[in-house]
Amino acid sequence: SKSPVSWPYPAVIAHRGGGRIAPENTLAGLRCGYDHGFLMSEFDVKLSGDNVLVVLHDDTVDRTSDGSGAAAGMTFTELAQLDMGGWHSAWYAGESLPTFSQFARFILENGLLCNIEIKPCPGREAQTGAAVAQAVKQLWAKGGVAPLVSSFSQEALAAFAQQAPDVPRAFLIDSLPEDFEAILVSLGCQAINLNQKYLDESSIARIHAAGYKVCAYTVNDYRRARQLLGWGCDAIFTDELIRIPADLGVY
Ligand code: G3P
Ligand code: MG
Repeated sequence: SKSPVSWPYPAVIAHRGGGRIAPENTLAGLRCGYDHGFLMSEFDVKLSGDNVLVVLHDDTVDRTSDGSGAAAGMTFTELAQLDMGGWHSAWYAGESLPTFSQFARFILENGLLCNIEIKPCPGREAQTGAAVAQAVKQLWAKGGVAPLVSSFSQEALAAFAQQAPDVPRAFLIDSLPEDFEAILVSLGCQAINLNQKYLDESSIARIHAAGYKVCAYTVNDYRRARQLLGWGCDAIFTDELIRIPADLGVY
């Protein structure tokens, strides 16, 4: 059976930086999570058209900015001019699109933990995985708790693993596949991150019996959060930083 995994991560993780109380995947959001006591944030990373690693969820900037178009078709200079905060609320108007290294700097300076979700633009899976690996090795060279790196893309995870095999990884997928152990072995993952909708107590037990951790996204209901943690789910991602507090898993 598998050797025990090193798992320094807390049970409640702020989703997309600061959940829904600030614009997703912005420095203001990341700071908001920190200010609400969250020791760990998840965020999404992809490459700009000119190969700068940026923090952005969608393939396009349409939903979360005042601009439009595919991120892969824009340079970082173009992306940096967008307003990423005004769609959320007037308070955050003018918030800019962060680079991955800005996020990493905030995390390292404040002793935080993070889950980097590699969210490649279509067709750029391997390139994005390799770029994130190079950046993580550089940015975490002087210490700091290793980030958990995850992706829905097996290609991105494989490319990441090739360059940074020692950085812990999770495979993201909606529901638990029959052959999950084979996938986790082939990608060298320590965890599987599943949609909370399809997660039950017996699946959690199966994953644990195989020697892996399990995280659930995105848990925004308080009772559901208590239930999943009570079943032994190792971590949950939440947008509700106030109703689902960072220390829910501790008490
Ligand atoms: O990484 C957990 C969760 O963020 C996965 O879904 O679409 O919110 O990135 P999504
Ligand atoms: Mg994500």
